Amino acid sequence: MSFRLSGVMGWPIGHSRSPALHGHWLKRHDIAGAYVPLAVQPERLEQALRALPALGFAGCNVTVPHKEAAFRLVDHVDRSAARLGAVNTIVVRPDGTLEGRNTDGEGFLRHLEACAPDWRAADRPVLVLGAGGAGRAIVGTLADMGVGEIRVANRTDARAEALAAEFGRPLVAWPWTRRTEGLADCSLVVNTTQLGMVGWPALDLPLDLLPPDGVVNDIVYAPLETALLTDARRRGHIAVDGLGMLLHQARAGFAAWFGIEPVVDEALRQAVLGSMPP
Ligand code: ATR
Repeated sequence: MSFRLSGVMGWPIGHSRSPALHGHWLKRHDIAGAYVPLAVQPERLEQALRALPALGFAGCNVTVPHKEAAFRLVDHVDRSAARLGAVNTIVVRPDGTLEGRNTDGEGFLRHLEACAPDWRAADRPVLVLGAGGAGRAIVGTLADMGVGEIRVANRTDARAEALAAEFGRPLVAWPWTRRTEGLADCSLVVNTTQLGMVGWPALDLPLDLLPPDGVVNDIVYAPLETALLTDARRRGHIAVDGLGMLLHQARAGFAAWFGIEPVVDEALRQAVLGSMPP
């Protein structure tokens, strides 16, 4: 097989963990290829995307701030991308057209399944904190899985209400100030906000009302162990960190570009963690 190329477009791009992640898989599978960081200014995104086939790229990832613009620029989109209005993975088709996908929801789900195999969607309500881009991907996935009630609480309540109006049942907007009460009866709570991330305030969410078998999932991965997850573990809940979502969302792109289904394991986690600033 010829040399295969992919990469990640963002502005800035130095923070991206994707080169370390895909670089690990390329090495592990001894693939003749490269995955490179691509610093692309917003006003040049279209030019950069259109150049992919000419440069021989199999595709690329797109990250902040390009996900929505890339959605508008690609020639085809999958269902997840269409629902989110955002693309994180692009595949160059044999005819040179660009196919945009969104794998964030799938990444969330695969990691949740790996960490909490006994969790069942249909059992009880789920509380989701945050109605931003990541929140949308996650509520869409949970709705597809058959969760009967998804309570969405967002600092700006109107944003949660708009999301609930757009999706309809099973989403319900839950007031941010009453988020703690929203834990009652839940099988799962997911933090999709930046709260708890390095440089951000902690998430204030006492877990007293969460049933003992409730799973706690934080999509923040810097730090890996947020105060929310420490508290969850201390109380005996299954705690699901944010790094796994990042690792699992990368699998579909790698498989499409390089032709091998990669696995998410401890060696990959260590490779990506080792690439993070201390
Ligand atoms: P992403 O695409 O990463 O989800 P986003 O679309 O900017 O990013 O969404 C960020 C989320 O974090 C939003 O739910 C945001 O709440 P608002 O809609 O009220 O802005 C939430 N968020 C950010 N800072 C917050 C804070 N200090 N307290 C509570 N929520 C916060």
